This record gives sequence, structure tokens and C-alpha cells, in this order.
Amino acid sequence: MHTLDDLLTGDIAGRTVLVRADLNVPLDGTTITDDGRIRASLPTLQALSDAGARIVVTAHLGRPDGKADAAYSLAPVARRLGELLGSGVAMAGDVVGESARATVAGLHNGQIAVLENIRFDPREAAKNEAERAGLATALVTLVGPDAAFVSDGFGVVHRKQASVYDIAGRLPHYAGYLVSSETAVLRKLTTEPERPYIVILGGAKVSDKLGVIKALLEQVDRVLIGGGMAYTFLSAQGNQVGTSLLQLDMVGTCGDLLAAYGSKILLPTDLVVADAFAEDAQTRVVPADRIPDGWQGLDIGPDTRRAFAAIIGQAATVFWNGPVGVFEMAPFADGTRAVARAIADSSAFSVVGGGDSAAGVRQLGIDEGGFTHISTGGGASLEYLEGKELPGLQVLEP
Ligand code: 3PG
Ligand code: MG
Repeated sequence: MHTLDDLLTGDIAGRTVLVRADLNVPLDGTTITDDGRIRASLPTLQALSDAGARIVVTAHLGRPDGKADAAYSLAPVARRLGELLGSGVAMAGDVVGESARATVAGLHNGQIAVLENIRFDPREAAKNEAERAGLATALVTLVGPDAAFVSDGFGVVHRKQASVYDIAGRLPHYAGYLVSSETAVLRKLTTEPERPYIVILGGAKVSDKLGVIKALLEQVDRVLIGGGMAYTFLSAQGNQVGTSLLQLDMVGTCGDLLAAYGSKILLPTDLVVADAFAEDAQTRVVPADRIPDGWQGLDIGPDTRRAFAAIIGQAATVFWNGPVGVFEMAPFADGTRAVARAIADSSAFSVVGGGDSAAGVRQLGIDEGGFTHISTGGGASLEYLEGKELPGLQVLEP
């Protein structure tokens, strides 16, 4: 894979460089609630700017479904990017239209322009290759045939989309610093990780993570399961789970996994249950096999927190994806905080994957410095660990 450093060994002052970044940050109206992905994009953008390139950033925000929608505008993101860089960032009012052309034409050396949300264009995520090719060609026309392409949106490299995949075949292409560092860390997890290698998985649905659960159960020493998906496993053990999140169609699969890998899987032994999915609900701590009728589990309990922390403390390698409780509500945040703290306190090689877990770490006030790496990619890091071919990485190979 050619990297940004290869591009920077040449003279790129005045050259236009198209950068695909992942600036898909959580927004509350137009307020960015976690700017981790913007900050993770800075090293590549700063290096290109210092080298005098004219930088055109393309990125997505949310899933606007192929049409322009002001609620998904990248304008607040461009503003924040400018604040973090301490320099003005230009913002185009469209993806590859008149405003984008004028914005790119107005760039001076070292300056950055952000194109409007690439997913406003239905061709970005089209299944049809010819449609995607149309948008990729329009991007090339916009930046000119002498431009270079830097792929730095690690969180989106698992998507076969025009600005991630098809564009790379049409311009000289390089992996940006974020893509390089993320893949280096994940490569370490998949090639002879130091043991014990412990994985903590949370999040709502078993079905979303089934592939990676199976792959990890083969590779790692223990899998600690919390979050919404735990209840489907608990149900597979014959427990009543009240009104907890339950994927009925996955109970059989979870039973098979428990039968095949039972000794590796650790489920919660106690839970914080509530009589409603609400911050001010009544709560109780109960054994995991005694969830009362009409109550739902929303966090792991204190015994489970201690057990998870003890296992994490013994680990040499840790990968964590997905909160183990509804940490956005204070009464159900202790489990996720305990997991984050145990990882931060351990001396293991530790990787946190997934926007929710990474935002959780920051929101719960855990020092990011305690983790070896906080990945900007949720789906991307999971698919990497599952051993899938990621289109956005594969296309960067020479
Ligand atoms: C993410 O948030 O996981 C990435 O930005 C990719 O977004 P997507 O899941 O909507 O493709
Ligand atoms: Mg996603």
C-alpha cells in the first residue's frame, strides 16, 4: 500500500489532493457532541496543508439516503475542522456541482475545502457499479486528472462506495495516516496477539455481530458479553428475561455458540434491571437468572463488573466493542464505566472499536491515554477482525 508519506516525498505544493475522511460525528441539532473523528482526521490534513497541497475533503454524515437534507449538512463539521486547525476551511454547498467547482477553483496552496455530504448524491452508495463510476468520474473532473487521492476515512473502508472504492481506481491513491495507523493496530490483533487475549462485546443486537463473535471465539481466550445482546444468550440458557431486549430468532444460534464455546463465553451473573426504559425508572440489582416479569435489564450488576474487571486486569491483549449498558442514562452507566476503567488501568495492549464505545469512554470521563488505540471504525474494525476483505483497503493495494 502506498502511504501519505510516499506522496509527501514528492513536491505537492499547489497540487490538488482529494481526501476521503470519515467525519460522521454525532450531532445534536447542529452541535457536535463528540468530535473524535474530526480530530482523528487532523494529522493527514495538517501534513497535506503544511506541504502546500490544495485539499478537497469528501465525507458523509449519517444516512441521508441519496438526497440533499439540511439536517445532514457537513457545514458544522467544516466549522469545527477550521477551529481545530486554526485556519479557515471552505465549505461547498453541493457535492460535485457548481458550488463545489467554484470552491475548488478558489483554493490556494495549503487550504482545505469540504464538499457537501457525499451521500446527498444517490450514486455514492448505489449497488450499480456504473452509477458509482459516474460519481467517481465527477469527483475526478472536479479535482482534475493530476490530483492524488488519499483514503483516510477508516470508519467507512468496509463500504463499497464511490468516494471510498471506485475513486481509488481513477487517481493515484495513498493510505492516509489514520487508515495506516488503524490497520497497523488491527493487524497486531490478528497476528499472534499476546495472551491472554480478552474481548468484551456489548451493543444491542447479536445479529449485527454474529460473524465477528464466531471469528473471535476461535481466536481469543475469553469473550465477555454485556449490553442488549446478553439477554438473547441468557434466554438461550433457559432464563426468563422479562422485557429486556431479546432477539427471538437468534436464541437458537446463541445456544449453539454456548454449546460449542461455553468455557470461553462469560455472561453477566447479575444485572441492573428497571421497570421502564427511562433515566428515572425504578431500578434493582438482581441475579441474571431472576429478572422479574415486566422488568428489563439495562446494565451489568456489581458482581459482573468486578468479575469482568478482574479478567481484564489479567489480560495481555484486550479488544472492546459496544457498551455493556445504556450508558447514556446515568443509572445504567456503571457497567460501561467499570469496563472502560479496567481497560484503562490495565497494561494490556488495548483497542476500543466503535463510535459508541469510543464516545462512551470520553463521555464517562475516562482518560483516553489509558488505551493503546481508540478506533474510529465500528463496523470497519469488526469486519477486519472477522477476516473479511474490506473494499476500501483492498483497492489501495498496488
Ligand atoms: C460509521 O459511523 O460507522 C461510519 O461512518 C460508516 O457509516 P455507515 O455505517 O452509515 O456506512
Ligand atoms: Mg455504522
